[in-house]
Amino acid sequence: MVDGSPGNRTLLVVDDEDAVRRSLIAFLHQSGFPSAREARNGSEALDVLSRERVFLVITDISMPVMGGLELLARIRREYPETDVAVVTGHLELDFAIQAIKNGAFDYFKKPFRFEEVIGTVNRVIEKQHLQRRSLELELLKERRRAEDRHLKDFVLALAKITDMKNPYTRKHSDRTSEISRLMAERIGLGADDVERICLGARVHDIGKIAVPDHVLDKQGRLTEAEFDLVKEHPARGADLCQRVSCLMPVVPMIRWHHENLDGSGYPDGLKGDAIPVDARIVRIADYWDAITSQRSYRKPMTTDGAARQIEYECEWGRLDPDLARVLLDCVGAGLVQRVRASATV
Ligand SMILES: [Fe+2]
Ligand SMILES: [Fe+2]
Repeated sequence: MVDGSPGNRTLLVVDDEDAVRRSLIAFLHQSGFPSAREARNGSEALDVLSRERVFLVITDISMPVMGGLELLARIRREYPETDVAVVTGHLELDFAIQAIKNGAFDYFKKPFRFEEVIGTVNRVIEKQHLQRRSLELELLKERRRAEDRHLKDFVLALAKITDMKNPYTRKHSDRTSEISRLMAERIGLGADDVERICLGARVHDIGKIAVPDHVLDKQGRLTEAEFDLVKEHPARGADLCQRVSCLMPVVPMIRWHHENLDGSGYPDGLKGDAIPVDARIVRIADYWDAITSQRSYRKPMTTDGAARQIEYECEWGRLDPDLARVLLDCVGAGLVQRVRASATV
């Protein structure tokens, strides 16, 4: 027997023939189903169902008041968790086929052997057990997905707070995200890829939460030791986000948004195509936003100056020239400037 004591399970036998019904009930009582109930027709069966939770109804087809097929239809509609097995006379095979088509679990032909009935009862118990397990697993998965979404929202909030800690980086990640969106759309990436890149850009600097405030807030140039601390932020951010499954796809952008095409970047010194295109897009969007923003130690570059700086970085082999061209096309169309001017970003 599957899943707990059979004594806790209620079966219902519906048959207008007293002898058939009573002998089956007696057999079920002896076979470990002391709570097996009986009814003489479909109408009485519905009375029992309205009072008790029944896992299986074994019903005759031809009965006065309400027959088995009508009862089956009512049960499928009103008690979907209850299974039905039908019992047919030897001339009623068409009804049995109809019953199976209408959702009956099984059928028996009279005269049936009690062992057949117990075989069906056990298969129903096993099927319902598996259905419950599958439902529980689905609920568990949904709970995990919800937890994951909450963690993602938390990380996004942390990323915003990290930007806000320093007046010079306020909204930096939001702007980097919007510039990345412009670039990703311009090179024709699909909607899912665009959204992934935007999300990666929004959390790309999350690792700065681990960089001491006195380093982030320092007025003037950083010492080598301080810069070493700043250089830890991509790896720290990637470590944090790889614990959240829905952020896993953006971890490469977080870890490699300071890598250079010539291998001179950090933290891994990746070169060329070893740097995923997502990370190369965020790299350029991030760089543009940084050089066109005010810093404690310098003024923001003008649009023309920043465009020249981007070209210079490409000549030195640090930035991807194809993606840099995409950015500069967006700048030429005035789209990037609109990102900064936007009231919401
Ligand atoms: Fe960064
Ligand atoms: Fe950044």
